[in-house]
Amino acid sequence: MTDNPPLSPRNKIALAYAKNLGYYKFPGGGIHEGEENTSALIREVEEETGLEVIPESIEEAGLVSRIMQSEMFPKTIFVQDSFHYFCRVKMSPDGTPLIKNQKLDDYEKDDGFELRIVTIAEAIQTNLRFKSDNYAKLDMIARETLVMEKLCGIDENLPRAFAETLLEKCVAKNPGPWREHSYAVAQAAEKIAWAVNENAAATGSTTPLLNPDFAYTCGLLHDIGRQMGYTYMAHVYDGYHFLKNLGYDQLAKICLTHSFNLHIIDDYIGKIDITDSQYEELKNLLAATEYDDYDRLIQLLDSTCGADGTKNMEDRMNDVKQRYGHYPEGKWNKNFELKDYFEKLMGRELYEVIK
Ligand SMILES: [Fe+2]
Repeated sequence: MTDNPPLSPRNKIALAYAKNLGYYKFPGGGIHEGEENTSALIREVEEETGLEVIPESIEEAGLVSRIMQSEMFPKTIFVQDSFHYFCRVKMSPDGTPLIKNQKLDDYEKDDGFELRIVTIAEAIQTNLRFKSDNYAKLDMIARETLVMEKLCGIDENLPRAFAETLLEKCVAKNPGPWREHSYAVAQAAEKIAWAVNENAAATGSTTPLLNPDFAYTCGLLHDIGRQMGYTYMAHVYDGYHFLKNLGYDQLAKICLTHSFNLHIIDDYIGKIDITDSQYEELKNLLAATEYDDYDRLIQLLDSTCGADGTKNMEDRMNDVKQRYGHYPEGKWNKNFELKDYFEKLMGRELYEVIK
């Protein structure tokens, strides 16, 4: 979908806005037993927004299929398919949509659902600021936001509250210093993204700008594969597949690339604790991947930020060298190259920016 996005962030669409909590979602809901998908679409749009769908205008937009551990029942897998459609609605002669009465259920009433016709950019920005203690709600809003982003072909951003809750849930499965390390990399990535953008604005350079929120999320989730246990190359493999399964292709790519600054799998520092076929899979994925500034940024910061809050590349690399017994020279030199690269983009010293 991202190769040829059907919508632009400036397009306006009809969404359900939860005015008591401040989030947007696509009108929609569960399909009744024996009900056609499109009948459910027509019914749900009318219930949640009062709009009347024109049946002939319905076109398939895509499917989000998720398989995950149930939040409610232990040892239970939760499978959910969400079908997305484009459609138009009946209009009155004055050119405004015909609106019937909504029929909201209790949770929709509590959240204060109302019809809003807004740009997708505004809906995404509102959702990215959404905060809640309710994981199921955070997860639902993150999913809706991801679909909006994919429809427009823009960076996959998660609401920060969702990304942070996701990290905490994963750290709870395997507590360790990777939590502090992930936060340190995230905060430093965000600062560098701002510094790159400020320097580009000040110097009039045509360097592509970086999205500070996306940079933060890349840093926060780059080691998410560590939730599976105390692993080495397996954390790259597990992190990649974990985020890929959630639909976050760009973030999954960061999990894949962050340990390989030379773009080759062979000089990995640490044990190869994956099967031969998984190794082949990683090798092929890596070879098919083109590095961008987000990959380079997390490679640099993974080699700079320790778990103890230290932010010094040589200290961090010496610590790794001590723990693993070696640090390949090419990898070591590449990190200094990455430091120079971002210092040029920022027009400032790395440590001054990320301190
Ligand atoms: Fe890592």
